[in-house]
Amino acid sequence: MALGNRAAQVIYMEEGDQARLGQQDIVLVDAFGRSVSRKRVDNDIDHEQTGKQNHSFYMHKEIHEQPDTVARTLVHSYHLKDQLELDFMEIDRLSIIACGTSYYAAMVAKYWFEQLAALPVDIDVASEFRYRSPLMSNSGLAVFISQSGETADTLAALKYARSNQQQTLAVVNVAASSIAREADMSVQTQAGPEIGVASTKAFTAQLSVLGSLAIQAAQQRRQFSAEMARAAFTTLAGVPQKLEQILSMESQLEAIGNSLTDARDAYFIGRGSSYPIAMEGALKLKEISYIHAEGFGAGELKHGPIALIESGVPVFVIAPNNDLLEKTLSNMQEVVARGGRCILLGDKHSIKACGDDQVECIEIPESDPFTSPLLYVAALQLIAYYAALAKGTDVDQPRNLAKSVTVE
Ligand code: AGP
Repeated sequence: MALGNRAAQVIYMEEGDQARLGQQDIVLVDAFGRSVSRKRVDNDIDHEQTGKQNHSFYMHKEIHEQPDTVARTLVHSYHLKDQLELDFMEIDRLSIIACGTSYYAAMVAKYWFEQLAALPVDIDVASEFRYRSPLMSNSGLAVFISQSGETADTLAALKYARSNQQQTLAVVNVAASSIAREADMSVQTQAGPEIGVASTKAFTAQLSVLGSLAIQAAQQRRQFSAEMARAAFTTLAGVPQKLEQILSMESQLEAIGNSLTDARDAYFIGRGSSYPIAMEGALKLKEISYIHAEGFGAGELKHGPIALIESGVPVFVIAPNNDLLEKTLSNMQEVVARGGRCILLGDKHSIKACGDDQVECIEIPESDPFTSPLLYVAALQLIAYYAALAKGTDVDQPRNLAKSVTVE
């Protein structure tokens, strides 16, 4: 992408390669001085995609692209079982490693693989994984999630896993990235170039791939019949239309974002696969608006964080209608009782069950619990975007941050 339309073709050099460019030729040698040839590939990034069009910031454009990018990724992911030499029946343990937002996708995937496919999952942030000498199963699969495919910690973790005889799979948004080329197998999310430093469409595309893989694993591990797998894919296929509905609520979400301008702190709580979405919602808000924000498992509030609740502190409660709704609403009442400003994200059943007119409600379209992470995060992305806009920060390039952390 950095080359823009200055280069029609690209040669990706490997670690240690050296190249001498002549008028007529290019001579490449590897780290041992041996002459090598590396594939020339077309630099086919559609540079039209990298314009802001009529959006103020790339992040806003990328949030609105999600119905299309999720749809494209789901179509591509539906055929993964034919494209990947991967039989989940031969895998006895799954490790998923990533950083930042991509790690929160790993957290969601842990619920999916364990609940749908009965496959044990270990997750970790790459910067910890690479140094803690994790013990890995001889029949393990290690999945590395990275939008850029260049995150140094994730690449190092991938090399550790390979040295520990893991089958490795990369889920990346940049096909020819270092992580994609280092892994045994690679799946490219179909999000297109993501310019905004805050990851949005790449995250929902990652979830689209991981959700599809979890369905494949459930079927290969005899937890799902073919009919059940088809039904689960159909549920996933309904996400783009529901995302459109959420994007149409933009003015309500903008008002919530604007109301955070003077907040010193903001908290996000959820249970089950809404817990990683609480973490991601907090990361989105803090990294672009610079408002301190933290996410918690809702059940953890009473183990310390509730001491932070004082009058007017905004607490976002991610509460889809599932078997954890009642407990989540009970945690929310602990916040209400201490004067916290609760903002409930839920469907009409959740809002009816809440029944508390002190609580501000954002109605999210009803969805199967399986797909709620992809929907609720879109509302939180827009809230964070408008909070940052109101604060006047550089939404696309927040202070201190880089789009790809290629150093430790
Ligand atoms: C997400 O909004 C952040 N920009 C950051 O946490 C990012 O997700 C993280 O650095 C991982 O990047 P990657 O997905 O390119 O590996």
